[in-house]
Amino acid sequence: MKEHDTPFRLFEEWYQDALALPGANPAAMVLATVGEKGTPSTRIVLLKEWDENGFVFFTNYGSRKAGEIDANPQASLLFFWDQLGKQVRVEGSAKRIPAEQSRHYFQSRPLESQWGAWASRQSQGLPDRSVLEGRFSAFQKKYPAQVPLPDFWGGYRLNPHRFEFWESAAHRLHHRRVFERQAQGWSSHLLYP
Ligand SMILES: Cc1cc2nc3c(=O)[nH]c(=O)nc-3n(C[C@H](O)[C@H](O)[C@H](O)COP(=O)(O)O)c2cc1C
Repeated sequence: MKEHDTPFRLFEEWYQDALALPGANPAAMVLATVGEKGTPSTRIVLLKEWDENGFVFFTNYGSRKAGEIDANPQASLLFFWDQLGKQVRVEGSAKRIPAEQSRHYFQSRPLESQWGAWASRQSQGLPDRSVLEGRFSAFQKKYPAQVPLPDFWGGYRLNPHRFEFWESAAHRLHHRRVFERQAQGWSSHLLYP
């Protein structure tokens, strides 16, 4: 593992390697949130944008994950790139991005995805699939060309305060490097595997 002064440079290097893998979906990341009474829950979301301010994904603001983040912004992300033998853990706090930024991304999506976002009451009980299909058709008719951004849909940005980069090595002597945010910049140290 090379030395880097910020975790973002190392993430960029590893992410570029992951993007070059055939057939993989390197943007798929596990998002962990904390529910009432401290119960954790996880699911996959797609990384859509990232920079030194954080990692952005998009979702339904009425979903379980959104409710948990809005009540407790502490969250973590996990990337696992099997073919590279690499894992990245990211911990931080997440908050909604401005609607204008969400609108920009929403309108870049295929129309079917935009109608789908309107149709889904993500994480709520669905009595029957035909109800979902009916809602999709209704929104398709209502917004045949220009689909507005639903007020219940948009992005979150997770602003990291800790990273851990894990890379497999011979004899199970794997590399682990932690970066922690300091008042000025980042500190870094190794962990036993
Ligand atoms: C490969 C993959 C990508 C996904 N990407 C997203 C995503 O970007 N946003 C999202 O809200 N759900 C995404 N999902 C669905 C979530 O895993 C999850 O089922 C959904 O968001 C509801 O989660 P919740 O009930 O915990 O809020 C994805 C699922 C998979 C398997």
